[in-house]
Amino acid sequence: MSTAPFRRLLVTGGAGFIGSHFVRLALACGISEIVILDKLTYAGSLLNLEGVLDDPRVRFLQGDVADPDAVAEAIAGCEAVVNFAAETHVDRSLLEPAAFVQTNVWGTMVLLEHATRARVARFLHVSTDEVYGEVLNGAAKEDDPLRPRNPYAASKAAAEHFAYAYWTSYGLPVLITRGCNTYGPYQYPEKFIPLAITNLLSGQPIPIYGDGLQERDWLFVDDHCRAIWMVLLHGEAGQVYNIGASEHRPNLAVARALVELLGADPETIVHVADRPGHDRRYAVDWSRLAALGWRPRISFAEGLAKTVAWYCARQDWWRARRDDAFAAYYTRNYKGRASVSRSS
Ligand code: TYD
Repeated sequence: MSTAPFRRLLVTGGAGFIGSHFVRLALACGISEIVILDKLTYAGSLLNLEGVLDDPRVRFLQGDVADPDAVAEAIAGCEAVVNFAAETHVDRSLLEPAAFVQTNVWGTMVLLEHATRARVARFLHVSTDEVYGEVLNGAAKEDDPLRPRNPYAASKAAAEHFAYAYWTSYGLPVLITRGCNTYGPYQYPEKFIPLAITNLLSGQPIPIYGDGLQERDWLFVDDHCRAIWMVLLHGEAGQVYNIGASEHRPNLAVARALVELLGADPETIVHVADRPGHDRRYAVDWSRLAALGWRPRISFAEGLAKTVAWYCARQDWWRARRDDAFAAYYTRNYKGRASVSRSS
């Protein structure tokens, strides 16, 4: 991997899942200084930064991207920004959409404003393939229309529009990435793959929404971070880059692979009521990123096996994350989804 041309990098949401992996990658690539700004909500945790916080190149600040004072302090002296800070879970966005507007839209605005004043050389905004809405056939290209269909996706699309507007209106060198579904170690257990693994390890079933034939493209977290690093260093300002893995699977196939890897009973896959507005399929064309020289390195089979092995070995980590707050969320989200039928 190329080394960074920036002396000091601000990573917002650096204590979250993808953010914490990205911080490790940037350190491994020889970055001189990293400032991490993270609110440490339920999903972000210092437990995700084990081994990182002792590094003398890292400065950790607990704060909210929606708080101008916190952002002003964090961005001082930074030459580049990578914005991971976000509320990211679709199910939660259906329960509490306002929190998504506050952090994802307003928080991004505050960052863009301060980054413009600080005249940073690069501002990479981490977005999602969900902004396209469901892609029933083929693969979305970067210039396709955005048709987000849930509050999370709508908030990410709105944030992107502000980021692009800061490029065209104020010349802030903005880059946007739209990654597909990402999985790997340190992912909070509300998301499908870690939820399924930790449920199985707790003797609970995997809840499949609806018929389970919804399709996602699954990218291992290290590959996602390498893609962001590549775009940060070599992307063209004002451009959007899709990040895909070309590892499409229906949810049921993912659940069955996990049942097999963990030697669980196939009866532990249970169909429950579907998510409202559930996007049937996501798929992106990532040829623009491939032209920069990026390719995913980890196949789905390899990534899933690594992920299962990590959750088996790190029960200390995920049992601490499946705390009372998690249980309260779980009850709230799944209580209206009584088991519909066993999967055959
Ligand atoms: P998720 O990890 O929430 O990501 P996203 O909704 O952003 O794609 O869900 C991945 C897929 O798995 C999605 O189609 C919803 C489905 N799903 C279930 O079937 N059951 C679950 O308990 C969860 C959390 C997700």
